[in-house]
Amino acid sequence: MKPFFVTTPIYYVNDLPHIGHAYTTVAADVLVRFKRQSGETALLLVGTDEHGAKIAEAASIHNKNPKEYVDEIVVGFKDAWEKLEIAYDRFIRTTDPDHESTAKDFLQKLFDRGYITKGIYEGLYCLGHEKFMSPEELVNGICPDHAKPALPYKEENYFFKLSQFEKKLINVIESNELEIRPLERKNEVVGKLRQGLEDISISRKSVSWGIPLPFDPSHTCYVWIEALINYYTYGQPTGAWPADLHLIGKDILWFHAIVWPAMLLAVDEDLPKKIFAHGFFTIGGQKMSKTLGNVITPHQLIETFGVEASRYLLLSSFPFGVDGDFDWSRMAEKYNADLANGIGNAVSRITTLAVGVNGIILGADPEFEKVFSGLHTKYRAYMSELDFFRATGIIQEMVKHLDQYLNEKKPWTLEGGEKKKVLRNCLGMTVALIGCAGPFMPKTADTVFGSLGLTKGTNPWGAAELKIERGANLFPRLG
Ligand code: MSP
Repeated sequence: MKPFFVTTPIYYVNDLPHIGHAYTTVAADVLVRFKRQSGETALLLVGTDEHGAKIAEAASIHNKNPKEYVDEIVVGFKDAWEKLEIAYDRFIRTTDPDHESTAKDFLQKLFDRGYITKGIYEGLYCLGHEKFMSPEELVNGICPDHAKPALPYKEENYFFKLSQFEKKLINVIESNELEIRPLERKNEVVGKLRQGLEDISISRKSVSWGIPLPFDPSHTCYVWIEALINYYTYGQPTGAWPADLHLIGKDILWFHAIVWPAMLLAVDEDLPKKIFAHGFFTIGGQKMSKTLGNVITPHQLIETFGVEASRYLLLSSFPFGVDGDFDWSRMAEKYNADLANGIGNAVSRITTLAVGVNGIILGADPEFEKVFSGLHTKYRAYMSELDFFRATGIIQEMVKHLDQYLNEKKPWTLEGGEKKKVLRNCLGMTVALIGCAGPFMPKTADTVFGSLGLTKGTNPWGAAELKIERGANLFPRLG
């Protein structure tokens, strides 16, 4: 069976990762863990985009040659993903030999099939975006995202005949053969397609830090074109292609939903099944950027909340498809409410009550199984739609059920069989909710399952005998 194949964007290595990069990457990891937990084989590809003028410029500012520079920066990405417990299957770098050769083969195929022509490109180029900008996208000639002028550019380039794919792309997107989500994004893409497509420049004569075109090595490949091919470099030989999901931010939708599928159509390859473009973190309502000096790194987040809570908070603070403002104090409130007073408190109450009580077999009375399996079905549906916001909402509903039951039954006032029965229900609910929290907070789930004497991946309503130890304080309250 073909594995479920998920990709994140490959990030530019002109600088270290920030929480925007972490956001997409943690989301992809949570989804893949959810799939794996459900028994599917799921593969996660992450990586870095290392060629092009922007990286070459960053390297020269640091007095380094580009390869030396990217080798240093990539460590920061790998380190951040390790800290954030990203269970990827491959970290691809566009300077990896297999990528360079796959990209060349792909370009040669496009050329052989007559989809590449030579021409002169004249336009305004934004280095920050690594793309040509239309005059409407600029404010007095300045790119609003990078606060720098887009520079005039005129050069002989090779072009990809993108304009030939307009109708075909409208068809595959409208029919959901290539699903674009959320729906507003799909409509946006179809709207753009209906305005017509122009051929795009795919090479640079003036940029040496790149992959030479196989049919004319005096040009290097335009960085975006080879970057997109990274998914295929990994997916094709592993049998994972086509990707089941390209997870991206909304800023790079055009390249993923239009340019990349057209390139695949041109070489008769399968299209990705789905592209999901999420919203952006803003800081105090502003875009997060180095220029504004408001960048938050994953390490800052981890220092404040710990790894597990950081993963949970990134995905539970606002709905995945829309923009949301990052606010330290709101995050701290959510940490206290959902984790310290929510999950952490519930687990601690129950393990304290149940420690030393022997012979409890995992399970719960049918009334709870019914409620929890209903919630679990909703949770699964939300997770499959990448609605992490609502999925974490379901986990909190589970916590509330458990709390209410504890407050009603007061097992600390009970004895013998009656006490055991109530504790068994509580523990059954705990296992069910921790199972759902697992993809978000994998180590927490392992710790809790461990303190109940369960091994990984235990079926919430299975028949294991519990051996309860008092667990550590999972989420100390923040003052
Ligand atoms: N190198 C290209 C991607 C090539 S993929 C074939 C690129 N790199 S990037 O470093 O600029 O990363 C862009 C991605 O980072 C976004 O699509 C998104 O996934 C993530 N984010 C960057 N800033 C973000 C926020 N402020 N908020 C949320 N995600 C953000 O584009």
